[in-house]
Amino acid sequence: MSISTPAAQRDLAFHLHPSTNLRALHKDGPLVITRGDGVYVYDDQGRRYLEGMAGLWCASLGFSESRLAEAAHRQMQSLPFYHSFGGKVPAITTELAERLVQLAPGMGKALFANSGSEANDTAIKLAWYINNALGRRDKKKIISRERAYHGMTIGAASLTGLAFAHDDFDLPMRRVLHTECPHHYRRALPGETQEAFAARLAGELEALILREGPDTIATFFAEPVMGAGGVIVPPATYFDLIQPILRKYDILFVADEVICGFGRTGEMFGSTTFDLKPDMMTLAKGLSAGYMPVSATLVTNALYEVLVAQSEKLGIFGHGYTYSAHPVPAAVALETLNIYRERDVLAAVRRVSPRLQQGVRSYADHPLVGEARGIGLIAAIELVRDQATKASFDPKAGVGAYLVRRAQEHGVILRSMPGDVIAFSPPLIISESQIDEMLAGFARALDETQAFVRSTGLL
Ligand SMILES: Cc1ncc(COP(=O)(O)O)c(C=O)c1O
Repeated sequence: MSISTPAAQRDLAFHLHPSTNLRALHKDGPLVITRGDGVYVYDDQGRRYLEGMAGLWCASLGFSESRLAEAAHRQMQSLPFYHSFGGKVPAITTELAERLVQLAPGMGKALFANSGSEANDTAIKLAWYINNALGRRDKKKIISRERAYHGMTIGAASLTGLAFAHDDFDLPMRRVLHTECPHHYRRALPGETQEAFAARLAGELEALILREGPDTIATFFAEPVMGAGGVIVPPATYFDLIQPILRKYDILFVADEVICGFGRTGEMFGSTTFDLKPDMMTLAKGLSAGYMPVSATLVTNALYEVLVAQSEKLGIFGHGYTYSAHPVPAAVALETLNIYRERDVLAAVRRVSPRLQQGVRSYADHPLVGEARGIGLIAAIELVRDQATKASFDPKAGVGAYLVRRAQEHGVILRSMPGDVIAFSPPLIISESQIDEMLAGFARALDETQAFVRSTGLL
């Protein structure tokens, strides 16, 4: 393929792309998207694509929800900017904070930022500030998990347990530890049941805590379902075993709900799905259906009281961003939450998600499919060279990337993640027939990928 269109060439001349093989982009050029309609987006040549990833797991209401545009427009006209530093607040932001606290079990206060990464960085800073306030000056290490994805700022990228987020960026920063990820298919010992695997991981976590010293560990971060690390749904008993260990050693639990939050798993939060009782929750993406950059770090009232006492002592709670509490994203987020409630988006997810989950599992016997997995409207298919041995393809062969390119040719946008894992995370408004359409595009691409690996000797 060569750089396809004038718009793509123009982009390449000026734009440094994130999360991209920049050399390969010079060859192929970007796909230039010009508009959206429901679950579809259109490129600069007028070609239509079903967006099977809701962009970056975020456009939960699709790409043409006019109520969100109107909410932004109204807010722009009445109060386009205000902030919440030094005892002020845009009125609409109060409304959003109230709504989030009402929605999120156990949470007491909301602190806003612009991205999921910032929300997680904020959670790290809060944990440190809180432990300093409590006189626990050595209790600062953070445990995350291999294959976690928590974002790309220095703190969040350190939490991320994927090599591409660290290599040559001099990360992870000190004080960040990674424990085993709860992926039974890849990480279980031969013959190990889901329960035994979960128990072993809990034991490994406790051993890590004891090795490092419980007085040195501040927090544990976890996505309820790991997203960009490969859509990993933990064993049913995993968090039941992890949470008492965190409580035993007085370790704060931060649930990263950036993907799971607002319906993706069929409940309002992944924390509800897995019965989590976090001390903090981080939210972004579905909070505004992706239409505006906005994120939140929610904390319990108990933690808030510590922050209050410490800010009194220091004279200020010295954290925040110019756009924390920005009124326009707040208005869009509020309207998003209104739509979720009015249209009962959770019920819609529960209604259509069996189509996706059964659909991906129907490919389990295909020779290239190692595992098909997921929950709600998030799913993945892991490609393998050999089903029996679970051997992967050489990462350099780009087999997953090939499949995704083929699917794109068939009008379906999917994402390939490390390990040739193909992700599905469509807008929550997707219908059953659109799920069928998405899977049909995938299936054609899968067969073409099989032909590709055969013809190139990869198989
Ligand atoms: C679970 C999770 N946490 C955090 C982030 C980071 O969010 P952002 O890209 O908005 O900084 C992401 C992004 O994909 C994510 O999937």
